[in-house]
Amino acid sequence: MKRFEQRIVAPSLLAADFADFGGEVRRAVAAGADWMHLDVMDGHFVDNISFGPEVVATVDRSDDIFLDVHLMISRPDHYLQRFLDAGADLITVHVEADHEVAATLGRIRAAGKQAGLALNPATPIEAVQPFLDQIDLLLCMTVVPGFGGQAFMPEVLSKVESAAGLRAAGGHDFHIEVDGGIGVETAARCFAAGANVMVAGSSTFRAPDMAAAVAAIRGVA
Ligand code: DX5
Ligand code: ZN
Repeated sequence: MKRFEQRIVAPSLLAADFADFGGEVRRAVAAGADWMHLDVMDGHFVDNISFGPEVVATVDRSDDIFLDVHLMISRPDHYLQRFLDAGADLITVHVEADHEVAATLGRIRAAGKQAGLALNPATPIEAVQPFLDQIDLLLCMTVVPGFGGQAFMPEVLSKVESAAGLRAAGGHDFHIEVDGGIGVETAARCFAAGANVMVAGSSTFRAPDMAAAVAAIRGVA
């Protein structure tokens, strides 16, 4: 089974109660989360500030769930070592950020971690094509990054389909992740387009029954 045939639900901690990160992680694990998605924002690459390496380390100490760290920062190369040391299992950097993309991806893998590459809704798929053999995950943003609770952008679905096509044509086995406005209905459309990792903040942590929400998003393969 190719790893991208697994359906993975990754609740985003951005929608959790910041007063109790450890408890919220354990709540997500008990609800059947596969990964924990951690949104790092620097107030420069995106118009918001969230948290840094210390929070990643706190989450890593609170449970051994797989940590999917999404760096929405202008200089991922400068801060990379701190996130590697904090316990990230997968680090995703943006192709639009100010760094040598190939070098950054190489450092993540050289550290024995998985490397992810993200592109914003307005960025064409061609921008990531030179790096497809260097990644374990491709993240197609389905909202303009910076905030949770935004509406899903259906125009990104054709890019997800293109990404799945490039993966097949190149014999790659990277995951395709979508992030922003993911719930039961939009997840089903993303799975159908070729994505397999669903990041979901509001629709999981803010659901009346988190376990039911996670199961409904994962749907039936
Ligand atoms: C936005 C972040 C997302 C966000 C998702 O920039 O990358 O991970 O937290 O939140 P929802 O699922 O509420 O859109
Ligand atoms: Zn994210």
